[in-house]
Amino acid sequence: MNKQPLAGKVALITGASRGIGKAIALGYAKAGATVCCAARSPDQLNAVVAQIEAAGGRAIASVTDVTDEEAVTQMMATAVRELGGMDILVINAGGSFDHAPVETGDPDGWRRTIDLNLVGAYYCARAAIPHLKAGGGGKIITVGSGLGHKGMVGRSAYACAKAGLWMLTRVLAQELAADGISVNELIPGPVETGMITDDFRTLVVEKEGEWLKRPADVVPLALFLATQPHIGPSAQSFSLMRRDN
Ligand SMILES: NC(=O)c1ccc[n+]([C@@H]2O[C@H](COP(=O)([O-])OP(=O)(O)OC[C@H]3O[C@@H](n4cnc5c(N)ncnc54)[C@H](OP(=O)(O)O)[C@@H]3O)[C@@H](O)[C@H]2O)c1
Repeated sequence: MNKQPLAGKVALITGASRGIGKAIALGYAKAGATVCCAARSPDQLNAVVAQIEAAGGRAIASVTDVTDEEAVTQMMATAVRELGGMDILVINAGGSFDHAPVETGDPDGWRRTIDLNLVGAYYCARAAIPHLKAGGGGKIITVGSGLGHKGMVGRSAYACAKAGLWMLTRVLAQELAADGISVNELIPGPVETGMITDDFRTLVVEKEGEWLKRPADVVPLALFLATQPHIGPSAQSFSLMRRDN
């Protein structure tokens, strides 16, 4: 078995300062990729880069807010310049700022949730496309959510943002098929990170019996998606959930 299936590849992972994005960055680096770790928290990013380097890998940090279009364009250009190209983009930065029914929810939190999960993803994909094309193809992996397929009471903002992200995934896959760029959604299901709220844990994990993962449990699927051949899957949703999306 090839222990470094991503040798020679460059990957940029947004939201790589902690949680799932950090685990994917560590996993890709271990698999041989050179990694750009992007998020807003410099100390956490530098710690991830140090961990990768201590294990013999190569990584850089990019302090970037993905809701800032100009910053995203800069992030991508800097990563390509410093790392020599771009082969894999993992659109992982995400979060949820409105946890109430539509009637009583917070419009500002609603907008911020769409901005982060959907508009930010659009900025990242848009900025990466010319670089992926220049390299002759590549992969875009969007980190979605089961809520984007089935919804949940009190999570309209997050569910709508992730539903939009799933549609963005499918449209991008169609637009980029001829360029050898595959675009797929990865749905982690519940993962023990700062994102898991108590009500979500009670409902989905305890009552529905979902698998509560560690961030590292998401890495094998992220590696699978990054290592498929050019002719491999695109416009697909891959889920680690036990139940129907
Ligand atoms: N945990 C779950 O159960 C679960 C389930 C389904 C899907 N997901 C999805 O998985 C992805 C990762 O979530 P997680 O569970 O790992 O959550 P997390 O531990 O809270 O990590 C979120 C990451 O996103 C970054 N981020 C937040 N806002 C940002 C911004 N404006 N610009 C750039 N980076 C930003 C954070 O870094 P900074 O704060 O440093 O910017 C952090 O690295 C998200 O898309 C989430 O929706 C999670």
